[in-house]
Amino acid sequence: MASASNGQAGLSGRISHLDDSALDLIFRTARTHKAWQPRPVSDRDLRRLYELFKFGPTSVNCNPARFLFVRSPDAKAKLIPALIESNVPKVTAAPVTAIIGYDTRFFEHLPRLFPATDPKRFRSDPAFAERYAFRNATLQGAYLIIAARALGFDVGPMSGFDNAKVDAAFFAGTSIMSNFLCNIGYAEQSELPPRPPRFEFDEVCTIV
Ligand SMILES: Cc1cc2nc3c(=O)[nH]c(=O)nc-3n(C[C@H](O)[C@H](O)[C@H](O)COP(=O)(O)O)c2cc1C
Repeated sequence: MASASNGQAGLSGRISHLDDSALDLIFRTARTHKAWQPRPVSDRDLRRLYELFKFGPTSVNCNPARFLFVRSPDAKAKLIPALIESNVPKVTAAPVTAIIGYDTRFFEHLPRLFPATDPKRFRSDPAFAERYAFRNATLQGAYLIIAARALGFDVGPMSGFDNAKVDAAFFAGTSIMSNFLCNIGYAEQSELPPRPPRFEFDEVCTIV
């Protein structure tokens, strides 16, 4: 099997790929969870999680995602009215619900994050900037999911909510908009339904 080209990070020879247990943990046996143990997720856990998933790549290193970790009863009470009914018990029981948002004015930070790119194009075309932000913030949300699993957490992403209500409750007066939500914690394994199917390679992949 080919080795990952991690020489610059000093990893060459130390690890070439994840073993089967690690792949099971983050993909093959990992599930979307809906029922949660009362075990808490600490500030330290969330910082450790961020310190891992922040390294996922984004276009021109724009890092448009903004993460609001809803954990306190007050913050949960603000979030719950925005949810579809079936998501209410999941969010109520989850130790933390992350709101993955995106900053539509992400380009203001490019002089720091990627000075080679002129922010003018984004400033003059808000629709282009929003598409750019949404695409890259969605990727960052996916990095969060995989990083959380890699650290031993369970996750439950959700889009069953009213974005406008979440934006009004949490992001009023800012340039941030919500994308999706993700419960994070330790799941009740007993409550899982059967795994829904995935496509076979030949159904959705083409090699040209
Ligand atoms: C962006 C996104 C939004 C989702 N929204 C919801 C939701 O609102 N409520 C819910 O119960 N599950 C939601 N799901 C969970 C999916 O239905 C689930 O990930 C999918 O069926 C695969 O399940 P598995 O990971 O257990 O194989 C969402 C998943 C993603 C990635």
